[in-house]
Amino acid sequence: MTIKIGVPKETLEGERRVAVVPSILKQLGKLGVEVLLEQGAGVDSGFADGDYEDATLVDGADALYAQADVVLKVQPPSVEEAAKLKEGSLLIGFLAPHQSDELIKVLQQRRVTALAMELVPRISRAQSIDALSSQANIAGYKAVLMAANLSPRLFPMLTTAAGTIRPAKVVVIGAGVAGLQAIATARRLGAIVEAYDVRSATKEQCESLGARFIETGVTAEGAGGYARELTEEEKAQQARVLANHIAEADAVISTAAVPGRPAPKIIDTATVKRMKRGAVIVDLAAETGGNCELTRPGATVEHNGVLIHGPRNVPSTAAVHASEMYARNLYNLLTLLIKDGQLTLDFDDEVIRDSCLTHAGEIRHEPTRQRLQGEN
Ligand code: NAI
Repeated sequence: MTIKIGVPKETLEGERRVAVVPSILKQLGKLGVEVLLEQGAGVDSGFADGDYEDATLVDGADALYAQADVVLKVQPPSVEEAAKLKEGSLLIGFLAPHQSDELIKVLQQRRVTALAMELVPRISRAQSIDALSSQANIAGYKAVLMAANLSPRLFPMLTTAAGTIRPAKVVVIGAGVAGLQAIATARRLGAIVEAYDVRSATKEQCESLGARFIETGVTAEGAGGYARELTEEEKAQQARVLANHIAEADAVISTAAVPGRPAPKIIDTATVKRMKRGAVIVDLAAETGGNCELTRPGATVEHNGVLIHGPRNVPSTAAVHASEMYARNLYNLLTLLIKDGQLTLDFDDEVIRDSCLTHAGEIRHEPTRQRLQGEN
């Protein structure tokens, strides 16, 4: 039997991306699968049903879920959607394992094999599957454009007959994938950029992109190349040094995150008070609580003339390229799972083992298993 891969329309409000784009269909076809597309699934990303020439169009999500052996999603399915998954089917998408307790219980009950894109290990071999990175790149780029748009100042230096305009000063906090892209984008716009991260390994990366690295004396490398949470003392030291740089900035792009934890609070109200009128903070950590004390997710707040912008789901604002990159990540993962037209889950493969959230009625991601069992 040919494996049926289902691509539903995303249902989360404001989500414009789609998990499969027309340009990836030919490659999927070579894997020996049939692609079922819910009618209109790609429309918000700029892809009409007719663009998906090699896919079978399905009328409505119910019919799609009823048939699909594999479901590809961008956002976690709602509990109602998950309940429609075929028993024992495979689900791949961002599944927010740290906060999807109800969803995970349904996946367990339905014996769904769920692979969470957030859990794909950050190893060289899995780079082409790394959707956190592909989407963070977009977020970093867009955050700078948002800041430039909100700012009453220009970013580049301009020498004109009407006088010379000094380049804007941009501070980037958190130099992971999004932060590094923000540095590169702000530099391209002509800004002077300073950057900071608790992982000292990022200093060289920031400098190679043309940013000056802010030394706070605090380093906090954690497991798996991620940062760990700081102690109270470290937080205070970091805040003291950073506040002086933030106070001088025309724009701050904050991207600091610790996986599975609320975003670290780095910019307090007192620091915002010290900023110039017209300065802008774009807080990419808004969805996990924000790096700035004043951030409100999905809103732009003004405080003493400073704008604090807390966008949600930034990759969705570049839905064409975000979907293309995401679809490519999913395809690369599928090549590990589908051999000769058959699904084969090799749990000896680190990428599959680590990405697996649920399988055969069990929770396979240890922190999630412990959290949910602790709850029972
Ligand atoms: P992330 O989204 O989890 O966090 C963003 C940044 O915030 C990180 O650089 C982190 O160090 C920083 N941060 C955390 N707490 C902070 C604080 N209190 N103050 C300032 N900065 C703080 O990170 P992302 O972008 O997902 O990357 C995480 C790691 O994964 C990095 O080491 C990156 O180099 C690595 N990576 C490896 C890949 C590979 O080898 N395949 C691919 C992509 C990323």
